[in-house]
Amino acid sequence: MTDTPRTTFPEAGRDWETLRSEMLEMGSEDADWRSGRTAVYVFHPGDDVLQVAKEAYALYQSENALGPAAFPSLRRMEAEVVSMGLDLLHGPEGACGNMTSGGTESILMAVKTCRDQARARGMDTRDAEIVVPRSTHLAFDKAARYFDLKMVRVPVADDFRADVGAMAEAVSDRTIMLVGSAPCFPYGVIDPIEALSDLALERDLWLHVDACVGGYFAPFARMNGTPVPAFDFELPGVRSISADLHKYGYAAKGASTVFHRTEEQRQHQIFVCDDWPAGGMTTPTAAGTRPGGAVAGAWAVMNYLGVEGYRAKAKVVTDTRQRMMDAIDAMPGLYTIGDPKLGLFTYGSEDPDALPIFSVWGQLKARGWFTGLITEPPGIHLMLSPSHAEACDQYLADLADAVKKVREGGGGGGPTKATYA
Ligand SMILES: Cc1ncc(COP(=O)(O)O)c(C=O)c1O
Repeated sequence: MTDTPRTTFPEAGRDWETLRSEMLEMGSEDADWRSGRTAVYVFHPGDDVLQVAKEAYALYQSENALGPAAFPSLRRMEAEVVSMGLDLLHGPEGACGNMTSGGTESILMAVKTCRDQARARGMDTRDAEIVVPRSTHLAFDKAARYFDLKMVRVPVADDFRADVGAMAEAVSDRTIMLVGSAPCFPYGVIDPIEALSDLALERDLWLHVDACVGGYFAPFARMNGTPVPAFDFELPGVRSISADLHKYGYAAKGASTVFHRTEEQRQHQIFVCDDWPAGGMTTPTAAGTRPGGAVAGAWAVMNYLGVEGYRAKAKVVTDTRQRMMDAIDAMPGLYTIGDPKLGLFTYGSEDPDALPIFSVWGQLKARGWFTGLITEPPGIHLMLSPSHAEACDQYLADLADAVKKVREGGGGGGPTKATYA
C-alpha cells in the first residue's frame, strides 16, 4: 500500500485484547454494512446466518482442502456443496464442479478449461476470442490476459441485455467462448441466455453463464414467482456456470463454485504434475492451499438456510428492490435503468446538467451510504441484501434530501469517475 507508512516488524508481541481494540478502531472509518448502509462488496443476510458462517469457518479454519486424503470431512463437504449447487442449477447426469475462492477464480477456471479443450482439439489458441456482451465482468479480461486470449466486447441492446444478433456477427473462426450473465454486474439484468444457448449450439461454441451474482439467488426468486427466464444447465448450450457462494449464497468470503456439463470437459481444468522431488500434485483449481473454513462455512450456511430460508431471503430482497425502484421512479429527475429482476439495480438522472448523478452519490456518501457507480449511462448502483429492507426508507429520505441539495447547487462535485475496485 503506497499510502501506508512503513512499519517495522514488532520486536515483542502484544496481548490479544490490545490488538483486538486496535483492529476495531481501524475499522471505525470503514463502510457501515452492519446497519444496511453499504450496498456493494458485502452481503448481509442477518446476524444468525453470519454467526453460523463464522462458527463453521472457525471449526475448520486450519484444515486444508488441498489435502482431501487428510481431511475427508472437507472432501465430503465440498462434494455436497457442489451437488447442492448442481441440483439448484439443473445439472444433468454427469455434470460436476469444484469450489473456488471466488467469482474471479471460477471464471478463470472456466476460461482456462475452455482454452485447454480447444488446444486439445488441435487449435492454436493464442489470441483466440471470447465474445461477450459489454456488460460482462472484468474477470473475463483478467482471464483473457492470463491465458493469452482476446476479449471481444459487443455493445448491449437498448434494454441493456446482451444483443445476441450482434454477438453472432462478432463470432469468427477464432472464437472459442460466448458469455452471458445472470445477472450482469453493471445493470443487474439477465442476458437472453436461451438465445445465446441456441447460438452456441449452432456454432459449436462453449457458452459460459456468469451466475456469480444470481446462481444462488435467481433459482429461489423463480420459485417465489419472479419471472426469471431459464439461464442454467436447463439450456443445452450452457457448458459451464460460475456461481458465488460468498454473494447471495451468504457464505463467508472465499467461496464460489464452477460447474461443468461433463466430467470430460472438467478434465481440462485439472492441474497434474510430478516434476519435482516431493510427489505428484493434482489440483482442480488455481489455488494450492484451499481454506477449509470457506468450504465449511458454505456447507453450513446452505444447510442452515435450506431452500425455504433462501426463498425467504430472496423475497425480502426482491420486494425491497421493487419498493426502492418504484420510489426512485416517482422522484422527479431520476429514473431506474433496464428491468432488473433480482437484487441489483441502478438509477440515473434525467437531467445530468442540473442533477449530476455522481454528485447525488457524493451527497449520499456524506450521509453514510456506500454504494457503486456505473458509467454507461452514469448511474448509482445498489446490490441489495436482506438487511436493506430496514434501511431502505432512510435511504430514500436521504436520497430526496441529496437531490434537493444538488439541485440547489450545494451538492459539491462528488467523484469524477467510477471505481469498481
Ligand atoms: C457478475 C459478476 N461476475 C464475477 C464477479 C467476480 O466475483 P469475485 O469478486 O468474487 O471475484 C462479480 C463480482 O461482483 C460479478 O458481479
